[in-house]
Amino acid sequence: MTKSIVVTGSNGQFGATIANLCKAREHPANLEVQVLDRAALDITQPDIVNKVLDELQPDVIINAAAYTQVDKAEAEEAEAHAVNATGAANVARWVAANKARLIHISTDFVFAGNNSRPYTESAEANPLGVYGRSKLAGERLLLEILPLGSAIVRTSWLYSEHGNNFVKTMLRLMAEREQVSVVNDQIGSPTSTHSLATLLLTMAQTQFQRGIFHWTDGGAISWYDFAVRIQQEALQHNLLSTQIPVKPISTAEYPTAARRPAYSVLDRRRTLSRFTCPGLTWEQQLRHVIVELARQKLVVHSEPRN
Ligand SMILES: NC(=O)c1ccc[n+]([C@@H]2O[C@H](COP(=O)([O-])OP(=O)(O)OC[C@H]3O[C@@H](n4cnc5c(N)ncnc54)[C@H](OP(=O)(O)O)[C@@H]3O)[C@@H](O)[C@H]2O)c1
Repeated sequence: MTKSIVVTGSNGQFGATIANLCKAREHPANLEVQVLDRAALDITQPDIVNKVLDELQPDVIINAAAYTQVDKAEAEEAEAHAVNATGAANVARWVAANKARLIHISTDFVFAGNNSRPYTESAEANPLGVYGRSKLAGERLLLEILPLGSAIVRTSWLYSEHGNNFVKTMLRLMAEREQVSVVNDQIGSPTSTHSLATLLLTMAQTQFQRGIFHWTDGGAISWYDFAVRIQQEALQHNLLSTQIPVKPISTAEYPTAARRPAYSVLDRRRTLSRFTCPGLTWEQQLRHVIVELARQKLVVHSEPRN
């Protein structure tokens, strides 16, 4: 039986990945996927949420709409909360009233980061900043409104060839500068939007499982380690032409408005045991995105000038 899926926040890096899969018809054949950007569905507007979803009547909603500017959120608490908590709850209320299912994306930033072992789904959440608090508030509202009908997938260090992310920032800085300095005392796991999209579409397709799940591409590395690997892959695939020094620095040497967890590795075992999960390592996923960025650069460079 074909299931209809709505994905919110389709201009974001995760949403764009799903949108591209659908354009290329690479999503599972028994899923009919509609991607909606903020203009088509603003989740902070309950009347619009109800009107749009009443028309589309999806079986499953993947909520990828979010306020994601971690530092800016420190000065925009109400705005972050409106999207990440109240907005998510608006979607959940429609889902509850219509016996649909919700798959919602959350973050490693719900954790304080003083663990030394990977965080399980039931580990105590204690966010350090406004963004993490707004996402945790969203999780709690969803579990309250939809105790049986929501799956919350926490992920970390998300990147892709779309939108803004660490990989693209590093590539830009490594092309522009003579040296880059990168924090070496925050440990986590990178996640490609491709692996997350594959997992979430699998979850939408298979028998619904509720509760919280963790998904990353594995590994426990620092941002510095990640930057070094990004440079290696980019040099290998001709995305960068010159190697520059990458200097490890401490968090104290790179002050930001929001505090970040020092350790936010997520334990994926529950997810791995319940679903058929993407099998590539974080290094292989990174290569896939670097190759795609190199391909796009080639296409742009070979476009006629007039
Ligand atoms: N980025 C990370 O490193 C990271 C890490 C862990 C978890 N996550 C979570 O992963 C999910 C996807 O993140 P992402 O990196 O793809 O985020 P993103 O690139 O910032 O995309 C978020 C999208 O949500 C849209 N949006 C914002 N407010 C909205 C509203 N009121 N109604 C509808 N859409 C709205 C934005 O629209 P505009 O384009 O119009 O602004 C944007 O397209 C989020 O839940 C995020 O919290 C991200």
